[in-house]
Amino acid sequence: MIIGVFDSGMGGKTVLEEIKKEVPSARYYYVADKKNCPYGEKDDETLYKIVKNIVTNLIDTCKAEIIVIACNTATTRCIKKLREDFPDTPFVGTEPAVKLAANSDAKKILVLATPGTIHSERLEALVKENQKDGQTINLLACPGLADTIEFNLDEDNAKIDQKLDELLKEVDRDYDAVVLGCTHYSLIKPMIQKYFVAARLIDGNEGIARRVKSLIK
Ligand code: DGL
Repeated sequence: MIIGVFDSGMGGKTVLEEIKKEVPSARYYYVADKKNCPYGEKDDETLYKIVKNIVTNLIDTCKAEIIVIACNTATTRCIKKLREDFPDTPFVGTEPAVKLAANSDAKKILVLATPGTIHSERLEALVKENQKDGQTINLLACPGLADTIEFNLDEDNAKIDQKLDELLKEVDRDYDAVVLGCTHYSLIKPMIQKYFVAARLIDGNEGIARRVKSLIK
């Protein structure tokens, strides 16, 4: 089984690691599209052209039989059209884990994601479908965070701290759950946790891995 995985950089590797645990026998091709990072600040047409090109290469050149979009932005904005354009290929997407957070006992939930994801119809629908009575779900766009992580992690974490401070300093700290709605954010969990000490940080990576496994069966 050949599985193609892509993201705008290394964020999607957090997804890839989970899938490898579930399906260790597959062969993987991972595209880290650093050149086009950040996806979250591109218009729909530009983003679709970029991801369609990657998917075409994964299918035609790498012979990928399943495509995993290890990126919330590309999933929320492009997966529908990709499924139409590549009807013979199964796609597994990455969506903000709103359902997981809403099904927990959290009363106050914050979703952090790129502007592209925050303003997507899909996220609006996820909130509408999953929000429970008495539950607050707030959304916060984090422009510049994914690329700051992509280009600074391990080299200059101070830049990431500075960006987080800029984005989060005015935000309430008393959330019970924070959804990491961008795969890059999973790479800096401890840095985000410092702002929300009582919150459970949630990503959907394990669910994606189980979904890939189920497709193979
Ligand atoms: N890691 C991606 C996501 O999950 C994309 C970040 C970006 O390039 O803006 O949304």
